Amino acid sequence: MKKITDRIYYVGVNDRNKNLFEGLWPLPAGVSYNAYLIVDDDKTCLVDTVEADFFLPFLENIREVLGDRPVDYVVVNHMEPDHSGSLALLRQYYPDVQIVGNKKTFDMMRGFYQIEKGILEVKNGDSIDLGTLQLNFVLTPMVHWPETMMTMVAPLDILFSGDAFGCFGALNGAWIDEQMNCDDYWMEMVRYYSNIVGKYGTPVQMALKKLAGVKVDYICSTHGPVWHEHVERVIALYDRLSKYEAEPGLVICYGTMYGNTERAAEVIARAAAEAGVKNIVMHNVSKSHHSYIIRDVFRYSGLIVGAPTYNTGLYHEMNVLLDELSQKDIKGRLFGYFGSYSWASKAVSEIKHWNEEKLHYEEVGQPVEIRQALSAETFAQCEALGRAMATRLAE
Ligand code: FEO
Repeated sequence: MKKITDRIYYVGVNDRNKNLFEGLWPLPAGVSYNAYLIVDDDKTCLVDTVEADFFLPFLENIREVLGDRPVDYVVVNHMEPDHSGSLALLRQYYPDVQIVGNKKTFDMMRGFYQIEKGILEVKNGDSIDLGTLQLNFVLTPMVHWPETMMTMVAPLDILFSGDAFGCFGALNGAWIDEQMNCDDYWMEMVRYYSNIVGKYGTPVQMALKKLAGVKVDYICSTHGPVWHEHVERVIALYDRLSKYEAEPGLVICYGTMYGNTERAAEVIARAAAEAGVKNIVMHNVSKSHHSYIIRDVFRYSGLIVGAPTYNTGLYHEMNVLLDELSQKDIKGRLFGYFGSYSWASKAVSEIKHWNEEKLHYEEVGQPVEIRQALSAETFAQCEALGRAMATRLAE
């Protein structure tokens, strides 16, 4: 039985089988689907469920706490099926359970699961009494779906936050931050945020404003550890990321076929390092999964990209990355670029076009176009680009 605090239990599950979350994002250390059980004198209440594949261990977790006592309510803070997937099955075991959500929750629930009865619609600020505890609902639309909401439990100061403050990584035994070494979760929280929630910085800021001044003792997210010891750090991280604030540092991302564009990237990186940039990360766009590159673009304020021309266009993997970056709506980065000509001049002009039309970043230094291999002249231009970025990062 995994107790969090008085009357509150963890009943989630771990998924160490799936390779790609949402079919897109690698899970090298798995992921947890967190659900919680509130056991009060009068009523019992689940907060969220788990993916349907994990229904049986989820049910065992519930029964370990409740025995034969029924589940009276299930609060649906988020309808994405990694959390709502067990609702229809849950109904078969607990036919009288009331499903709690907002108007948008139930629009989706009809579509996903054809559930229309036994539902209880709440609005922002509404409450439900469970006996000694009270559920208070805060609607937080677009963090990161339209129906997302959070649930506070008074007087325990517990926030059930949905995906917000979540991270990749299964829970290996412990479930509360103070019981575990959290080192591996921090970068995975940035990767989770940047790829899943990052497009919605403004709604996240609105949600944080709704929570401002509210005392929070535990944050119970739908993925990753329950936050108790690190509540302030977690909220501060979300605040910074959702404002697109970055540390001084440089991401250099390149595509390369035979190593010539990579050589240019190395020269740029060395020049930036020699000019004093300590935080430099480099990614071969064909090797690093884009989720790690997007994570690093959220972390650092400088970005230099380069790629060859391919079939009179931009190297495919770079095109995909720039499209993903533009869709994430990451604001305010410093941008440099370079490319190789091979047998047609296109890569540099295509990257310039991406920036002018979609990214809208401040251009730093002069773009470099190499023909085939680096010449003495383009070598010096790469050095100048690295130094220009270093100078701008230091301002
Ligand atoms: Fe964890 Fe948005 O689902």
